[in-house]
Amino acid sequence: MRVGVLTGGGDCPGLNAVIRGIVRKGVQEYGYEFLGYRDGWRGPLDGDAAPLGIPSVRGILPRGGTVLGSSRTNPFREEDGVRRIKENLAKDEVDALVAIGGEDTLGVAARLSDEYGVKCVGVPKTIDNDLSATDYTFGFDTAVGIATEAIDRLHTTAESHMRVLVVEVMGRHAGWIALHSGLAGGANVILIPEQRFDLDQVCAWVTSRFKASYAPIVVVAEGAMPKDGEAVLKDGSVDSFGHVRLSGVGEWLAKEIEKRTGKEARTTVLGHVQRGGTPSAFDRWLATRFGLHAIEAVWDGDFGSMVALRGTDIVRVPIAEATSRLKTVDPKLYEEVGVFFG
Ligand code: F6P
Repeated sequence: MRVGVLTGGGDCPGLNAVIRGIVRKGVQEYGYEFLGYRDGWRGPLDGDAAPLGIPSVRGILPRGGTVLGSSRTNPFREEDGVRRIKENLAKDEVDALVAIGGEDTLGVAARLSDEYGVKCVGVPKTIDNDLSATDYTFGFDTAVGIATEAIDRLHTTAESHMRVLVVEVMGRHAGWIALHSGLAGGANVILIPEQRFDLDQVCAWVTSRFKASYAPIVVVAEGAMPKDGEAVLKDGSVDSFGHVRLSGVGEWLAKEIEKRTGKEARTTVLGHVQRGGTPSAFDRWLATRFGLHAIEAVWDGDFGSMVALRGTDIVRVPIAEATSRLKTVDPKLYEEVGVFFG
């Protein structure tokens, strides 16, 4: 049996740990051969692959990124995409594929499996933690750790200058990173895409923080939107998912706060720092277990399934369950954290 492995979408700390888990167990316990496809779905589309063996996964556990490369290529948006993939898999004598990715990559795996008979098993991945069907995705814990450390550092410089510091974190559609890092870092305001924010209220929180002789830290997810200011943040371009790209909420917010409160404000955009570098111990643990269970699903012939974390157990769910809707922050949870605002 020969199994193909690919990593698609934005990279994420822990991808290499999954690949290592798959290959180690697949070779040692099942005697499988592996082929690593380059750059997500571009690999099987173009027939770009190289053999993966135990020597190729040695030493990759603590490394960020992905040794297979990644892209946002979607074969359903390419001419003859499905036919090309099926031909290349047949040519490579690949019997099954493990696709590690987020909403888009897994959406392709679900369709290839359910509609075109390509034997796929899915592994969920995103630093945003917004995939349904799994309690956590690997990469999220690392991203939250990086953002929390940044907030800790920003507190001291904010205090020295008695400035407002706005920290923009990733999260286009869900505010998990903002909520977790903001709570862990003791932020005074946390703004998430799930709830439009009221600028007057944000300024009131900022002012009350200064009145208590402290400098406020405002954590804002990149997809957060003011109640009436949507047009200000749309830069008009469309991202690879077909969503209108929002830009610069952190910069915009700092300017508005400065204008309305008279207090000096600065912005730090954490950006891809949150996605790079070595995975946390939790992410290595989760990613490795996902890899071990994914190859077990191949062994069981459970195609069209995806591994997921439920409590402390790894379970299998239909891939489509993870891609049918996003997991967003529950308003009750956001309200709970609101006790620290201001
Ligand atoms: O989905 C993961 C993510 O890191 C988002 O939080 C972020 O908006 C996006 O990817 C950035 O994508 P790119 O690296 O393609 O700019």
